[in-house]
Amino acid sequence: MKKILIVGATGTIGQAIYNNLKNDYQIITAGRHNADLILDVTDRQSIDAAFQDLENIDGVINCFGVLPFEPFEQVDMQNFAQGITDKFLGQANIVQAILPKLNHGASIVLTSGILNHQPIHTGVCAAAANGAIDGFGQALALELAGKARVNIVSPSMVADSIDAYGAFFDGYEVTQMDDLVNAYRRCLSGIINGQVIKLFKQI
Ligand SMILES: NC(=O)c1ccc[n+]([C@@H]2O[C@H](COP(=O)([O-])OP(=O)(O)OC[C@H]3O[C@@H](n4cnc5c(N)ncnc54)[C@H](OP(=O)(O)O)[C@@H]3O)[C@@H](O)[C@H]2O)c1
Repeated sequence: MKKILIVGATGTIGQAIYNNLKNDYQIITAGRHNADLILDVTDRQSIDAAFQDLENIDGVINCFGVLPFEPFEQVDMQNFAQGITDKFLGQANIVQAILPKLNHGASIVLTSGILNHQPIHTGVCAAAANGAIDGFGQALALELAGKARVNIVSPSMVADSIDAYGAFFDGYEVTQMDDLVNAYRRCLSGIINGQVIKLFKQI
């Protein structure tokens, strides 16, 4: 059985991935609470300490990131920077720390989102973080070619988040949980590399 790490496994997306994959993969979870490995993605020392005994990892899924949803004229720049730090630099931190622990041909999966392609009024920070993740992941796939694959899953608002985010996404397509989980599965077990898997129609 392949051994994978899910960072953010207690979240809306992470729980869906965990429940769907748990019979097919040996899963190690990571997060700030209720996880096998306790870490903060913004604190590299905590990541390195948590990863100390990890070895022979076949895949890592990053599905975390807290962002401010405010119009740019009003957003506090510290909150803006914190959003980029959480969602983008957090994923970069995790990937750099886990590279020495990966088996040859391992799969690295990042999570971005629709908002750099189909923006909403309060989504500038999310758009900036998503654009950074898409670009970072595609460039990293080239840099790591032959050693590890890197792909990015980019959902619209997911079905399980309608109660939380529905008001922000009026009229937007909803990403169904089955499609979402299958995108992560394709990244783990397939051969794709350097792809942004957009789980929404192009308009
Ligand atoms: N939900 C959607 O509709 C949607 C749509 C498109 C894109 N996305 C993106 O998908 C990602 C996950 O979204 P979600 O809705 O599943 O998020 P969520 O429900 O808020 O879950 C976030 C997960 O990440 C962990 N986490 C948060 N901050 C952390 C930190 N500093 N260090 C370590 N772990 C941390 C949380 O656990 P702890 O609190 O225990 O650490 C939790 O397991 C985000 O990047 C989001 O922007 C979501």
